[in-house]
Amino acid sequence: MSELTFRALRALADGRFHSGEEMARSFGRSRATLSEALKIAPELGIDLFSVRGKGYRLAEPIEFLDAAAISQGLVAERSRIRLEVLDQVDSTSTRLLELAAVGAPSGTCLAAEWQSAGRGRRGRSWIATVGGSLVFSLLWRFERGAGHLGGLSLAAGAAVARALTECGVERAQVKWPNDVVADLRKLAGILVETSGEIQGPTIAVVGVGINYRLADRAKDLIDQPVADVVHCAPSPPSRSAVLAAVLRHLGRGLEDFDRRGFAGVRDEWRSMHAYQGRDVRVVPPREAPFEAKVVDVAPDGALVVATSDGRTLALASAEISLRGKPASE
Ligand code: BTN
Repeated sequence: MSELTFRALRALADGRFHSGEEMARSFGRSRATLSEALKIAPELGIDLFSVRGKGYRLAEPIEFLDAAAISQGLVAERSRIRLEVLDQVDSTSTRLLELAAVGAPSGTCLAAEWQSAGRGRRGRSWIATVGGSLVFSLLWRFERGAGHLGGLSLAAGAAVARALTECGVERAQVKWPNDVVADLRKLAGILVETSGEIQGPTIAVVGVGINYRLADRAKDLIDQPVADVVHCAPSPPSRSAVLAAVLRHLGRGLEDFDRRGFAGVRDEWRSMHAYQGRDVRVVPPREAPFEAKVVDVAPDGALVVATSDGRTLALASAEISLRGKPASE
């Protein structure tokens, strides 16, 4: 994808008609080059009309992120997070892991308007669209060893759920291990990748993807029930306002995790857990699924469940997923 694609999308962001000829002239390119650069729009999740005599128009306006305003807010609240917004990248987490390896400081945050190879948990890809999603990764450095990072992804999920609630999202909850859901439909996913020494220090790259306004076409590509911010909040805030709120809560949440670990947020997490006390189907990565009742969350973030044959298990792997038990069973 060329840099021209994003220049053109920014020019079209208001959702009105813009003459292709005038746009091409203002960019110092030919109309054919402009038309070529915009061919990728459907792949980015964008509906673009081209009408002879009128020019180009987006089906929906796009609100691009206002990096300066978000950064100003972070500075004002003395956050250690430093935000950079890219137009496009393969994966913000992949790129941030590379930056971490060459010494990027704790609090470095990389957001992108578009990811060409977004990664989800369990080897899945993460679907996002330009203007319809929020995707970013945040680097945090810990003095302590990896053994002390149990529950980090749950603490991150709680921070995101809290932020979305503050943004007016109704019924935002967490779902073990680290999804954020509304009415059990996925609103946001979190991928935490850690590395470091057993005794410390360690680093964590917390990758967050939030569905902001997903078109039906994008929803169809996702193999589970999904929700988005715009349809869950009666007066939805802008994309930038949502990102600002999430970074504020995540920054505070990670500072707190550094001091107190998961213990600091465990009670709140329980109160936000969509499956607390409920019967679920546990789906391990390689073994057969089984039914159990959710009993608790352990201090290290493992989910404590009781099986029908009377055993109590602590589920620790982020590879395990939970499904609601159908009412008929
Ligand atoms: C999940 O599968 O639920 C986790 C999804 C995490 C997606 C985010 S989007 C930003 C960051 N970059 C990636 O490639 N993945 C994470």
